[in-house]
Amino acid sequence: MAIEMELYGNWNYPTAIRFGAGRIGELPDACRELGMARPLLVTDPGLAALPMIAAAAERCRAAGLGCEVFDDVQGNPVAANVDAGLAAFRAGGHDGVIAFGGGSALDVGKAVALMVGQTRPIWDFEDREDWYTRVNVDGMAPVVAVPTTAGTGSEAGRASVITDERDHTKKIIFHPRMLPALVIADPELTLGLPPKITAAVGMDALSHNLEAFCSPFYHPIAQGVALEGMRLIKAWLPTACRDGDNVTARAHMLVASTMGAAAFQKGLGAMHALSHPCGAVLDIHHGLTNAVVMPYVLVFNRPAIEEKMTALARYLDLPAPSFGAVIDWILALREEIGIPRDLAALGVTEDHIEQLAPMAVVDPSAGGNPVRLTKANLTTLFRDALRGHIG
Ligand SMILES: [Fe+2]
Repeated sequence: MAIEMELYGNWNYPTAIRFGAGRIGELPDACRELGMARPLLVTDPGLAALPMIAAAAERCRAAGLGCEVFDDVQGNPVAANVDAGLAAFRAGGHDGVIAFGGGSALDVGKAVALMVGQTRPIWDFEDREDWYTRVNVDGMAPVVAVPTTAGTGSEAGRASVITDERDHTKKIIFHPRMLPALVIADPELTLGLPPKITAAVGMDALSHNLEAFCSPFYHPIAQGVALEGMRLIKAWLPTACRDGDNVTARAHMLVASTMGAAAFQKGLGAMHALSHPCGAVLDIHHGLTNAVVMPYVLVFNRPAIEEKMTALARYLDLPAPSFGAVIDWILALREEIGIPRDLAALGVTEDHIEQLAPMAVVDPSAGGNPVRLTKANLTTLFRDALRGHIG
């Protein structure tokens, strides 16, 4: 028990985070701190059916807050989910959002809070040039974020990924103030995640730390965060998958996930550039896709990241620290936690590549990749990931 007692803290980086088992009990207090009297709790239908959500809403009501639940949120969420949330927010006279769940619920909750006081359509706030300056900041509602998976890190991120159904692309809706003002990070909320989901979202967290670490920009703060995030994932993801009730493993994975999102302010890369079109077109799970493409992307990027991978291998205490040691570790980790080897196992076919590769070139994550991405080299990379060809 002594060890678990230490996994507790109040942090202010990159936002206010109340971390520790049982801290969901502070939800009403967190809402009040942000000036909310009538929070709208945004979650997904799967979670809404669990006692966790009813208990959280009831706790808020018992504390005198006018809390209602909105759960019309799908995986790979679309603008219609945000619109429906916005309608619920207005109809209920709400004054703040509790974004409660995995990446989809967190992203929709954050987007609803953004859109409350805007007159422009959501696509006008895509993460391009200085489009975020179009936002009426005074119209944004405050957000308390409560993650229930350890992967997305969206609770510590400044954007929401929403699928635009008009052209089946994932768009990044961005404003610096979309970073939730307060996070309750309670590892007990992640105890019920089944092993397969734990593995997929945990690999998303790894991909955030890893892509941030490999991206070429100068950002030593993110670099340090990413390294330690990866060390925690190496140490605890297998345990979290094998023994889901292990609160220590869940706590370390939850913080590693938050660290991934803090780190990827530095940039992402080809893992996410490949994964976003797969999610938008084929509705494949985001973390699972990242996990599958991870080793292929690293091999593709090898000329630009050899030294970084060697440094990473040293930090992770891998035998014979080198680029190859990192690949061997990732392949063994994937096998241990049951990640498929190639994109074919996720339902991607040769025919899809023609559609997916051009989408990946223009994906917002592509710019952070250490090797410049083109339609031609992405087609090759997709084919390697499809056929399971490494190096
Ligand atoms: Fe991701």
